[in-house]
Amino acid sequence: MPQSEAAHIHIDVNRVISPVSPLLFSGFAEHMGRCIYGGIYEPDSPRADEKGLRRDVLAALRELNLRSIRYPGGNFLSGYHWEDGIGPRERRQARRDLAWQSVESNQFGTDEFIDFCRQINTEPMLGVNMGTGSIQDAANLVEYCNSPPGTKYADMRVANGYSDPHAVRYWCIGNEMDGPWQIGHLEAEEYGRKALEAAKMMRWHDPDIELVLCGSSSSAMPTYPEWDRVALEHCYDHVDYHSMHYYAANRDDDTDSYLATAVGLEDYVATLEGVLRYVRAKTRSKRDVFLSWDEWNIWYKNQQMQGGWREAPRLIEEVYNLEDALVAAQWLNVFLRRADVLKIACLAQIVNVIAPILTETDALLKQSIYYPFLLFCRLASGNSLDVLVEAPRHETQQYGDVPLLDVAATHDPDSRLGALFLVNRSQSEAVSLNFNWQNVRPRNARAWQMRGTDPKAANSFEEPNRVVARPLPVQSVETGSDLLLPPLSFTALEMMLR
Ligand code: AHR
Repeated sequence: MPQSEAAHIHIDVNRVISPVSPLLFSGFAEHMGRCIYGGIYEPDSPRADEKGLRRDVLAALRELNLRSIRYPGGNFLSGYHWEDGIGPRERRQARRDLAWQSVESNQFGTDEFIDFCRQINTEPMLGVNMGTGSIQDAANLVEYCNSPPGTKYADMRVANGYSDPHAVRYWCIGNEMDGPWQIGHLEAEEYGRKALEAAKMMRWHDPDIELVLCGSSSSAMPTYPEWDRVALEHCYDHVDYHSMHYYAANRDDDTDSYLATAVGLEDYVATLEGVLRYVRAKTRSKRDVFLSWDEWNIWYKNQQMQGGWREAPRLIEEVYNLEDALVAAQWLNVFLRRADVLKIACLAQIVNVIAPILTETDALLKQSIYYPFLLFCRLASGNSLDVLVEAPRHETQQYGDVPLLDVAATHDPDSRLGALFLVNRSQSEAVSLNFNWQNVRPRNARAWQMRGTDPKAANSFEEPNRVVARPLPVQSVETGSDLLLPPLSFTALEMMLR
């Protein structure tokens, strides 16, 4: 295996970027395709529990330890009437979902979603409809979920079997309202004014909620980043987070460029950080608004988005391969490196629809991107560290000269556990690593690695373990000698640092 010159990584646990927000490891579930119906909820499956939830899906999601799940959309949100999805199931009516040209049975709604979140120990993050929905509808949903009994919407919740408030803390004010494809699309000015009024009413019901403003739906939008500035100038003092969305792609089959995606992602964060600072200064605000990357993933192979007016059609069931997993790992590295400004990130989505998990009625498959997400959720905690990386570089068509390694690190001063996440983005060269531990010594190191020679290798129901993370023996980290990172690999290291 050809080997490049060595890389040097200097680690100082005092060089803290920021504490890592646990909400960076969140997910997104939309009423789209088979994410809810046929994914999370499938009463006819032999794997369903007494409430119709898939036991195997719950187990996989528990293993991922998602800290929060955003729901119910997505583009679906902008035509959703939340009152259709509550109350006795036999009285709920089906509706046409214009976003995905599908039939929405409404058999799963807000209360079922809250029950599902409680079962997997995750925080619900609800969206309010800013497309066809009014600011009154948004406020009513907050009352339904969070108010004590005694008034109309809170009492509807009680009548539906929930005397205690759902206590939903995180709320998104609409979805991708900048997109012309959005039901009820708004110009930035219109959205900013409507979002402000919705935010005020929502907060009057519950002053403890945290609000996410819609940002641009991608850095490729012609209105980006002006849309963000205008919306923020209306709402800066009334919201806590500003959202960003992005789906990475390797459309030209240019794997070197694709594996440098993190460079573009960091640029996106830096631009919006600049917009946040500008608006904070312009509005003379004394508070910070943070970024919520509440839709992120890889999506370009499967473009099946029209449901043909069927219930739970198979939409955008993307199959993920090794190079996708390496991009997902870099994305998670970006979240850690920019943990100072990024506080929420939602993997879009969680089951079947552009998801780490695929299901059939009696089977579940973990896709390649499942594994980096699992390792970050398990190992990244405490503070994000500013590690100095000196690595060999190579040229890419899209991003120019980039380092072969993409690295992030965390350290928890309480448990003293440290973690390092390393992607070797070269397709041909192994990189040997030399660590310079500046004020700690590593002990009891453990490591896991994903690697392969074929960037397009993927798991399937027939061959589920082709692209997985495997444990790796790592005496070398402790003895100070080199560790070799093979080409096309992702390595996660965990160790005690004393
Ligand atoms: O996640 C799929 C879709 O992508 C969402 O509904 C929308 O918000 C985005 O464009």
